Amino acid sequence: MKPKVFVTRQIPEIGLARVREVCEMTLWENELPASYEHLIERVRGMDGILCTLTERIDAALMDAAGSQLKVISQMAVGYDNIDVRAAHARGVPVGNTPGVLTDATADLAFALLLSAARRLSESVQYIRDGQWITWKPLDLLGADLSGATLGIVGLGRIGQAVAKRASGFDMRILANSRNLSDEQAWEHNATRVELSTLLRESDFVSLHIPLSPETRHLINRETLAQMKRNAILINTTRGGTVDQLALYEALRDGIIAGAALDVTDPEPIPLDDPLLTLPNALIVPHIGSATVKTRNKMALMAAENLIAGVKGRLLPNEVKVK
Ligand code: GLV
Repeated sequence: MKPKVFVTRQIPEIGLARVREVCEMTLWENELPASYEHLIERVRGMDGILCTLTERIDAALMDAAGSQLKVISQMAVGYDNIDVRAAHARGVPVGNTPGVLTDATADLAFALLLSAARRLSESVQYIRDGQWITWKPLDLLGADLSGATLGIVGLGRIGQAVAKRASGFDMRILANSRNLSDEQAWEHNATRVELSTLLRESDFVSLHIPLSPETRHLINRETLAQMKRNAILINTTRGGTVDQLALYEALRDGIIAGAALDVTDPEPIPLDDPLLTLPNALIVPHIGSATVKTRNKMALMAAENLIAGVKGRLLPNEVKVK
């Protein structure tokens, strides 16, 4: 008998096809994610769950699935939506999809950095509002990248890929990361500094730390106040790393100059969120890994993790709790 698995979202067909080869697959076909209540119903009796960051996978859900549950495979690198400790306590490994989305996410971080620096969304709006009457020497002036300082918070895979891009733009790079040595920073053309130094000296601050109790609201009223008034914050990790109300106030009051966000808290950002009223906040809908090639690779990797798990083998990419 084939192992039974539940796939919580429509993912690229290449991943679904691989799952179908080995498993009896139930797919949540709706465009919107299942409610938690629906999920609890659907996971009952499953040997494996392939999920995405839109699902909360907690101890109660694992218990609802049952003691035959063998694997939770997430199609994302971040896994803050999963209670990994609860999974491990039940002997259930958790898989994720690191590596394959590094370049796509770093590209997006850099796209946001460039767009915010050169005020692209304001410029598009300027034309739509009929303001492009003539070339103006003093309109829509932005910031140079060359010679500017980029502070990378979290010099893991994606942070390193952002540093590589920044080197090509002749930026000075500062980095703050857990257990980072001077030598490791230098390998990426970066200088290791304390977070407070990074915030004080950077023209651009890009966040690449996973969301955890330690990193929740790392960017808050106090840390924003340490940043330069011309600074631009870029966030492509998880919205919860930033206190969004504090960010709104800082952008409104000129404490920092701009923010470019791929992630918000909550997601989607409510249409009445005050951040959406600010011209210096550029917000896109969590598209860091959203390229055709990358999403295909993620789907396939998540499928392979799922399959290894239901067969009782080591997952090709297993989350380890530190
Ligand atoms: C996307 O946000 C991911 O964690 O893969």
